[in-house]
Amino acid sequence: MPAEILLKKARIAAERAYAPYSNFKVGAALLMSDGSVILGCNIENASYGMTMCAERNAIAGMVSIGHLDPVAIAVAGGNSSAPCPPCGACRQVLAEFNPDMPVVLESPNKIIVMSVNELLPLSFSLTERR
Ligand code: THU
Repeated sequence: MPAEILLKKARIAAERAYAPYSNFKVGAALLMSDGSVILGCNIENASYGMTMCAERNAIAGMVSIGHLDPVAIAVAGGNSSAPCPPCGACRQVLAEFNPDMPVVLESPNKIIVMSVNELLPLSFSLTERR
């Protein structure tokens, strides 16, 4: 699937974000090896620390429906004048499922693609996976 299409799905997910406190709406679109796409958005809470990021919500949705094999993720939203890269916690969670997967980000006039490994070198693992 072209990166731009995956990003478009991430933008749709961002519109569904529940972010009344920060007003910073984020969407994530996870592409599976079978071509299906799972969306996630950030969900905030009055108890701010309970907030869940879009990327981890997408991963939760993925596992919940029986998938474990993401091949790419696009993240969009927030301040549209800058890319919205996954936070450190989300990078570690993404690395759990595919440290090599491309992360597609939008920037005003171009698409940025970096692997999870590039975004989080030496991510924690209990096994020698890299
Ligand atoms: N947020 C995400 O959804 N993903 C990230 O990787 C970083 C931050 C959300 C959490 C919060 O609702 C808002 O962005 C502002 O921090």
